[in-house]
Amino acid sequence: SDCVNYVKIVHHYNRTHLYACGTGAFHPTCAFVEVGHRMEDHVFRIDPSKVEDGKGKSPYDPRHNAASVLVGDELYAGVATDLMGRDFTIFRSLGKRPSIRTEQHDSRWLNEPKFVGSFWVPESENPDDDKIFFFFRETAVEAQGLGKSTYSRIGQLCRNDMGGQRSLVNKWTTFLKTRLICSVPGADGSDTYFDELRNVFLWLQTRMTRSYNVFSVARIQSSVFKGSAVCLYSMNDIRRAFLGPFAHKEGPNYQWVPFQGKVPYPRPGMCPSKTFGSFDSTKGFPDDVIQFARHHPLMYNPVYPMSRRPVFVRTNVDYSFTQIAVDRVSAADGQYDVMFIGTDKGTVLKVINVPKESWNNMEELLLEELEVFKDASSIINMQISSKRQQLYVGSDTGLAQVPLHRCSVYGKACAECCLARDPYCAWDGTSCTRYLPNTKRRFRRQDVRNGDPNTLCSGDHHKHRVAERKLYGVEGSSTFLECIPKSLQARVTWTFQKHPQNPREEVRLDDRILQTDRGLLIRRVLKRDIGLYQCHAMEHGFTQTLLGITLEVVPSTSSSVSNLPSDAPVRLDPRSGGGPPMTNQKLWYRDFMQLVDHPNLSTVDQICEQVWARKNAGSDAADKVFPAPGKDVPPLGPAIRPANKKWKHLQEIRKGRNRRTHDGKPNPRAPRSAGE
Ligand SMILES: *[C@@H]1O[C@H](CO)[C@@H](O)[C@H](O)[C@H]1NC(C)=O
Ligand SMILES: *[C@@H]1O[C@H](CO)[C@@H](O)[C@H](O)[C@H]1NC(C)=O
Repeated sequence: SDCVNYVKIVHHYNRTHLYACGTGAFHPTCAFVEVGHRMEDHVFRIDPSKVEDGKGKSPYDPRHNAASVLVGDELYAGVATDLMGRDFTIFRSLGKRPSIRTEQHDSRWLNEPKFVGSFWVPESENPDDDKIFFFFRETAVEAQGLGKSTYSRIGQLCRNDMGGQRSLVNKWTTFLKTRLICSVPGADGSDTYFDELRNVFLWLQTRMTRSYNVFSVARIQSSVFKGSAVCLYSMNDIRRAFLGPFAHKEGPNYQWVPFQGKVPYPRPGMCPSKTFGSFDSTKGFPDDVIQFARHHPLMYNPVYPMSRRPVFVRTNVDYSFTQIAVDRVSAADGQYDVMFIGTDKGTVLKVINVPKESWNNMEELLLEELEVFKDASSIINMQISSKRQQLYVGSDTGLAQVPLHRCSVYGKACAECCLARDPYCAWDGTSCTRYLPNTKRRFRRQDVRNGDPNTLCSGDHHKHRVAERKLYGVEGSSTFLECIPKSLQARVTWTFQKHPQNPREEVRLDDRILQTDRGLLIRRVLKRDIGLYQCHAMEHGFTQTLLGITLEVVPSTSSSVSNLPSDAPVRLDPRSGGGPPMTNQKLWYRDFMQLVDHPNLSTVDQICEQVWARKNAGSDAADKVFPAPGKDVPPLGPAIRPANKKWKHLQEIRKGRNRRTHDGKPNPRAPRSAGE
């Protein structure tokens, strides 16, 4: 399987062609792929006469990665150039200029690097100032002696580097690199470092000011601690590090220190350009500049993330982050960077940071967790299409298209839409829909920053009908009152009402009645549990009733059932010693046996309804429980809607709620799949 062609690089070359490179059975190969002008052309063709050597563009080994960027007609690639994967290089090829690479066999330049990303960064209006950035992780030369440490790196090159004249011929003369720090301050003053860089996303803030932000995902893999983090760096901090002191080591037995001597002019790392200096080409650089550049590719100062801490962290979970893509969204109260974070178990997290009191104190908010690949394959690529408003997600086993926003998932009510705090979505008076700031619709309610429905959603027209259902429990047996809030941030409380005329009181929890993430578990139902249970979601001081459940208790006439120990949920199975019920109970008992064979939640309720109806047949109780279809039913109280309608309604609720899952914790709920 190693000997097929693994495609490692695909670039948009011009309007009609792609440029693609693959491993070619340990024989790296590249080709122009003709794809036609438009999608309707249905062209996909390789001209065999134009297939070329892919050395220095694609790795030999399918397990190795390459990072590359195509700028004009030139390819910049970070890759292993030999079969064994020992000679790593940053290599420029493909255009008309001679190929150029990093110094060979010099651990100060590159030391077992793993390249994760590469970008073209114009620094001014003058193309001579253009830089190419490479992001990678490597074994840190400056940390040797402490064992083998991996550091995250950013490396820079000038696009117009032509190499040296007498030394560093056809090698970079402007290559510099430094450490990218992503760490969490510890309570005892020692930081926890996320040093294993996995992916970066370069965010062009404004074309005018040429200001950039870099989002990185990095992880930590030690025997005691597992975690991933997203860090955000500003381009100004990156520039400052490259303008800071060079790292210097006098000899083998010396420490790495900041270089104190005189740095030659033009300072290494500066591009030959009329903007900053008087040199036309790196070939004209004085020898002392070239010599200095050769021995000082590493900067002394690292780049710290903005606010000196990650923007999003997950620790001690069974997955790690692999990819990141960011979309900037304009909301009613400002702009938000929505982060889509891919994981190694096939899921995507949708996350924003919201200022708490000020922009310096941010709160992380997990909006959605999507299961994109059912086979849990690691996500290896993600791209946002703003035009189509889709996220494209790739793994070794598939490619998926996921909408950036699905506002309808948050429900129809103003409060639900508001509490979701999704910057893509706002309540338009009737439903939760895509928020577009330039549309002149008056009735748009959105508050990402505070998510406070009290101020936004007051007034009768925002009230939504509380879902109602009826549940049957068997005396002495266990039953479950399911209620899952749509918002991941909500706290759930339960109230109980014996009769409509009685006051509502909070459900008292004990060994017998337990509250779980998904609802209320009554382990042994008693007659006195009959009544109306309401589930309320509390968030930001706003309480909303989500569901009312009327619990009916089917009496058990078997004394052995009520004598069972109270801590065991009772199985209605004669073989387990529960004792068969009386003859007149035979009918409904047989129904319960069916139920044991087919543990299907909705069937449980259906059978219970049947049983209840049969038990009450002849009395007017059945009419109360099953009013004729079409009859108007009051929203609260013991009566319920016609069964089929109720089921439809409940299934809709389930569908909606299953699309969102819970913050951080390993999740028992089934998240949605991308195709849905
Ligand atoms: C794109 O590049 C290919 C390969 O060099 C070339 O054959 C083709 O004519 C180019 N197409 C356009 C529209 O320039
Ligand atoms: C459960 O029962 C419902 C209603 O009868 C049915 O539509 C559904 O397919 C069943 N589910 C399973 C997993 O059997």
